[in-house]
Amino acid sequence: MTPVSDKVLVIDGTGRGHAICELFTRTNPDVTVYYGPGCDVIDHPRIVPAGSVSLADPATAVDFLATHPVEFVFVSHIDALSQGYVEALRAAGHRVVGPTAAAAALESSKTRGKEFCRDHGIPVPEFEVFTDVAKAKEFLGSVPYRCVVKTDGLTPDGDGSVVCDTAAEAIAAVDRFAAEAAEAAAGGSSDGLRLVVEERLTGREISVFALLDGDSALLFPTAMDYKRTLEGDAGKNCDGMGSVAPHPDDSPGLREELRAALVDPLLRGLRADGLDFTGFVYIGAMLTPRGPVVIEINARFGDSEAQVVLPGVRSDFLDLCRAVLARDLGGRRLDTDGLARCSVALVQGCLDPADPDALIGWPFGPFAAGQPVRGMAPAGPAGPAGPAGPAETQGPDGADDTLVFCANIRRDAAGTPRTSGGRVLHVVGAGHTLDRARRLAYDRIEHVGFPGMRYRTDIGAGLAPAPAAGPAPRARTRK
Ligand code: AMP
Ligand code: GLY
Repeated sequence: MTPVSDKVLVIDGTGRGHAICELFTRTNPDVTVYYGPGCDVIDHPRIVPAGSVSLADPATAVDFLATHPVEFVFVSHIDALSQGYVEALRAAGHRVVGPTAAAAALESSKTRGKEFCRDHGIPVPEFEVFTDVAKAKEFLGSVPYRCVVKTDGLTPDGDGSVVCDTAAEAIAAVDRFAAEAAEAAAGGSSDGLRLVVEERLTGREISVFALLDGDSALLFPTAMDYKRTLEGDAGKNCDGMGSVAPHPDDSPGLREELRAALVDPLLRGLRADGLDFTGFVYIGAMLTPRGPVVIEINARFGDSEAQVVLPGVRSDFLDLCRAVLARDLGGRRLDTDGLARCSVALVQGCLDPADPDALIGWPFGPFAAGQPVRGMAPAGPAGPAGPAGPAETQGPDGADDTLVFCANIRRDAAGTPRTSGGRVLHVVGAGHTLDRARRLAYDRIEHVGFPGMRYRTDIGAGLAPAPAAGPAPRARTRK
């Protein structure tokens, strides 16, 4: 396969994927990005949808590449990674940035992720793994701390973890996961129940990102994700309702601590376990009085953190990916604009909450996708109701900027953009302060809409750095 310079294929179809495509094209004037399966609503001359590509089937990407040769493929969706997309593309002769399925199992199996951390001295909460419901319940009745109950594998809407206040809630979560596993096993799509029960931590969560080349890690700015469905961090966990960057507690000292406590041991662990991991790692951690403690390792960038972190990157991303492929990332630095960003997810909620027969809306249950989206019209002068591509209303230094990233939105046969899933769009504001960034994001939302649109009104509100925790005892690790 002869690589073709300045062309890449990005495998994704989320708001994160759009942000990665935007990063490639904004930081390199020559690159063309094929985006598969991508999104046909994105209006950019160098982001070309590749709708024939399926996340579930790497052969579709191999077929696409036969007629659209590229320099390399960037795989950033866990569904594709976890079933061996990277290996399949390499076997077909392509250069690929992304972890193999064995490396992506750090995300796709919570047990694997936790055991990896424990084995390599990365701080994690106390945890136990269960395949037996009675034993899990017995354990929950015996521990002195509050628990989080997690199902081992990937879940479609990000609700595979139940954060519990009481043992009774945790036992109910075990029963729910057991019933779901039994149903899946009866349908032939699961080989049984596997649960992780872990100590519930308190503190502020932080999303930590690094680009890996197998030897070195280049840290990207931190972010804070809003995983709960409703205002005030109420409601169940979901894929995320918004995010801000940088994290309110960000400082050079914290970044150094995160590198030393989490990223460097992760790199050493990958090498020790012989895991082939290139591309982004996303470590979800809790900042606790005993130091940062890992909640999850993910084998791709966060969605929607990508939408607040990547627009601030000024370094040529094509060049960074070339360095990854050459295992030459060590010594590189990342240039960023230092602005604050706030991203708000617009999701497909209930069409009529007063109607008891209306579908309840994402992520609570079934939802009525297919709604027409306004405020997405291409062309027209840049402004709040302008195109759905990045770089509108941009100040001279990139501040006072709003961006719209496309997730579950597709054109119908008549060309009308329609909702096609839970999280539809991510609206991002950028400014010199977080307050300015959030005001711009919420102002922009006034100009976008679809029937049943729902969003959290408190993303980025009332954030101040957490009080200094004092000298932190070393984080607890289990050996
Ligand atoms: P996960 O499914 O592991 O990605 O967790 C989803 C969310 O559940 C996290 O972002 C946290 O908000 C919460 N969570 C998970 N594990 C813990 C824990 N041990 N303590 C407190 N909150 C947690
Ligand atoms: N921001 C949450 C996730 O990407 O899983």
